[in-house]
Amino acid sequence: MAEIIYSEETAKHLAGKVVVVAGGAQGIGAATVTHLHALGAQVFFGDIDAEKGTALETSLSSSSSSLQPSTPAPVFKKVDVSHHDDLLDLFETAYAGNNRVDAAIFCAAVGEPSGVFDPDCLTREKLLAGRGTETDAEKKVGRVVDVNLVSAIHFSRIAIAYFSSSPHEDGFTPSLTLVSSIAGITPAPGLTTCIIRTNTLCPWATKTRLLTPPILKKWISENLPLNTPADVARFIVQCVADTELNGRVVYVAGGRGFDVEGGIEGTRGVWMGVDNHRVWERGQGVLGSGGDWTSQ
Ligand SMILES: NC(=O)c1ccc[n+]([C@@H]2O[C@H](COP(=O)([O-])OP(=O)(O)OC[C@H]3O[C@@H](n4cnc5c(N)ncnc54)[C@H](O)[C@@H]3O)[C@@H](O)[C@H]2O)c1
Repeated sequence: MAEIIYSEETAKHLAGKVVVVAGGAQGIGAATVTHLHALGAQVFFGDIDAEKGTALETSLSSSSSSLQPSTPAPVFKKVDVSHHDDLLDLFETAYAGNNRVDAAIFCAAVGEPSGVFDPDCLTREKLLAGRGTETDAEKKVGRVVDVNLVSAIHFSRIAIAYFSSSPHEDGFTPSLTLVSSIAGITPAPGLTTCIIRTNTLCPWATKTRLLTPPILKKWISENLPLNTPADVARFIVQCVADTELNGRVVYVAGGRGFDVEGGIEGTRGVWMGVDNHRVWERGQGVLGSGGDWTSQ
């Protein structure tokens, strides 16, 4: 896999850019907000955790005037990403003062709740007994899908609308970055009919609250590569800043980033087989950008 190298020089192009971040109060999102702010970007970030979000806003605002050139203070808004209008308000706040949104980053997530796939609960009899009511497990699944998946789709749609209302200058293309997981390494449908770049981050173990203490302890004792949130943030920033990066799936492990999609594309003939690969390429040519898949 080709390695993606973080470049501070490229990242500096984000000075003055207007960036919206969802899930920015802690973990990878907070590290991304902090990094973008240090680069001179104007950051608008939302999170459901108002206490942590406000604390980050206050601490970064106090450093704003000391940065060279001086950076606008970041703006925090309490947002539940599963509420479409909360997301819309966040983008509108960013747009209202600047007449533009240049980049959008989705970092919000909840962990998988326990018990959802517990084999003891998953018997035909128990499922039928719960018919007609929404069980706790169903509610938990619904919430995870709403926050981790449906919200990311709403966020992407809103980002596209705001990008299309923004001027594009200096060769910088608007950037949508979704933080996924190594568990999300699959080919993804493109947003190729829109003139935007979209990239997906797939971090391996990262020292945030989602990595529970028992796993973290074992991970460290096995001497496996561990990311800090700031490591992942660097590659998020790289995806946003580097206009050559589009349609990439970036695997981040031990502070290094790798282009998974390039590796998958470059070896398709090997893992798919030569004949399948040829037919697949012809089929992709017929499907094109996918823009008319849902038109009929
Ligand atoms: N930590 C890891 O090891 C790891 C590994 C792979 C992928 N990831 C991914 O990285 C991303 C960021 O995770 P993290 O590790 O920084 O976790 P985190 O829990 O530290 O951060 C997630 C943020 O999302 C916010 N959030 C949750 N529900 C929300 C809602 N409804 N509305 C608004 N904000 C909400 C939380 O308050 C929190 O600030 C996630 O997509 C996660 O799946 C993390």
